[in-house]
Amino acid sequence: MVKNRSFLKEIDFSKEELEALIDLGLKFKELKNAKISHKYLDGLNIALIFEKASTRTRSAFTVAGQDLGMNVTYLGAGEIQLGKKESVVDTAKVLGSMFDGIEYRGFKQENVETLAEYAGVPVWNGLTDTWHPTQMIADFMTLKEVFGKVEGLTIAYVGDGRNNMANSLLVTSAILGVNVKIIAPTDLQPEVEIVAMAEQHNAGAKLTVTDDINEVKGVDMLYTDVWVSMGEDVDFKERIDLLLPYQINADLLAKTENSNVIVMHCLPAFHDLNTEIGQEIYAKYGLAELEITDEVFQKYSSIIFQEAENRMHSIKAIMYNSLKSL
Ligand code: CP
Ligand code: NVA
Repeated sequence: MVKNRSFLKEIDFSKEELEALIDLGLKFKELKNAKISHKYLDGLNIALIFEKASTRTRSAFTVAGQDLGMNVTYLGAGEIQLGKKESVVDTAKVLGSMFDGIEYRGFKQENVETLAEYAGVPVWNGLTDTWHPTQMIADFMTLKEVFGKVEGLTIAYVGDGRNNMANSLLVTSAILGVNVKIIAPTDLQPEVEIVAMAEQHNAGAKLTVTDDINEVKGVDMLYTDVWVSMGEDVDFKERIDLLLPYQINADLLAKTENSNVIVMHCLPAFHDLNTEIGQEIYAKYGLAELEITDEVFQKYSSIIFQEAENRMHSIKAIMYNSLKSL
């Protein structure tokens, strides 16, 4: 595998490199489960920059870093000068002089690319408005655990088809040769540039973008994500009206006509009323479940939480691959 590289977006990696990361994630999971120490990056220092909230990504980078023997420093939104008093370029130079690797979760993809250009150390994209690449290694690792392979499977992402998750699933599936359908209302379908990128990197997968919910027929996996992503300033009601027909519920499951279909979700998910936002939406619009019903969520919760756990094992693989030559 290529050494000393940042992990900014999926198209920077070949099919073989992504597959190697998935397999390495599976190996790290075995080591962790067998309680075999793997402090392969002992003594290195990494910084985690989070301009947006996070549970899984922050925890995964923290535990993965510590398990690999590294010292992990969290730099939260509003705690560092970045963006307000200091440019991304200057911040990159400073952090790069002290840390061996940097994770960045934020808004613009451009920022994580600039950070990588000027830091001189590997930078990992922990989610931007455009991509969520570390999530991809966990998701395809989970698919491999469930189905024993990924190539040749057919997956459908149903919901907001122009967010970071839809973009990443479309492009990563293409690279890996996984047939993918983005099923979303016309107004929320992927940008033409993203579809073009997927086509350009396609390793023989069938790529479909459609508003037809009946296209879920025969898929191996259904995926969804929140209807309004972090940092989006949109009218929630408008999204609900557009996306309610795309909710993952029992009817939609039945439409797959596949009793072995699985459901995945990157989380967090609005499947019940146990969140503040869930309560607000319920009070305003009388809707108790959004992108996925609680019934379906609970039915597939073991896979969904396996996927969440895999964030940690796969991020270990990503960081190890970038830093192993140090
Ligand atoms: N899936 C995911 O990225 O979760 P967090 O926002 O909690 O990190
Ligand atoms: N599309 C979501 C993903 C969260 C992991 C967001 O950006 O908020």
